[in-house]
Amino acid sequence: MTRSHGGSIVILTGAGISKESGLDTFRDTDGIWAKVRIEDVATPEAFARNPSRVHEFYNTRRRRLLAEDIGPNAAHRALTELEAQWPESVLLVTQNIDDLHERAGHRQLIHMHGELLKARCAFCGCIRAWRADLSVALSCDACGRSGGLRPHVVWFGEMPLEMDAIFSALAACKLFLSIGTSGHVYPAAGFVGAAASHGARTVELNLEPSAGTSLFDESIQGPASVIVPAFVQRLLAG
Ligand code: APR
Ligand code: ZN
Repeated sequence: MTRSHGGSIVILTGAGISKESGLDTFRDTDGIWAKVRIEDVATPEAFARNPSRVHEFYNTRRRRLLAEDIGPNAAHRALTELEAQWPESVLLVTQNIDDLHERAGHRQLIHMHGELLKARCAFCGCIRAWRADLSVALSCDACGRSGGLRPHVVWFGEMPLEMDAIFSALAACKLFLSIGTSGHVYPAAGFVGAAASHGARTVELNLEPSAGTSLFDESIQGPASVIVPAFVQRLLAG
């Protein structure tokens, strides 16, 4: 794959790309799921059972994301550079709910698991930007009902967002990159198979081999802030 051959690119990112920015991953030994249970904070049942516990979990992560010391790293910036320089479409599909790809200037971006800096009303579905804490006491300024504001985040058991757009991009792309994801959660973990079945070249860039590493044409190990800029330079050099 070189610049001269062009061809569209689809990139999937996971929590590993934001790790060097200071945000926790999920399944590393010091990850989020080593500290709290998915069943207590990241399912519709958890929200129905104890909404304040769920709000506390996301409020803590939202405050952390908005802290002074958090910002995009060289890997986020390298993907923005690739999007700017590449002659054809570069669609970035992120599993991350942080806004670090936006802060790095990426434009064609899909948050398939939603966004921490947005809130959605469970009653009327209205979605709005939200940077403050959420609580059950708040009411929706669209429908006036209270108790229904939730993070605009996809929980386990819920459908990820924009799947049709993602699968049609996977069917058309010439190159699929998977960056900083453990390959444990579907449907994202199945994207490599979809891309490969339509003839795309597939490359994994991760700190260590993911659960699906054998499905990739090439697997590059190392910290994202090092291997992603190097890979992008190689790609743009043609
Ligand atoms: N550079 C590159 N990769 C890294 C780095 C780093 N500095 N640090 C960690 N990684 C890798 C880990 O080796 C791991 O394979 O990033 C991956 C992170 O995997 P997970 O913690 O499972 O995160 P992710 O794959 O994004 O999880 C997918 O699961 O819990 C749900 O909704 C949540 O979107 C999340 C989804
Ligand atoms: Zn509402």
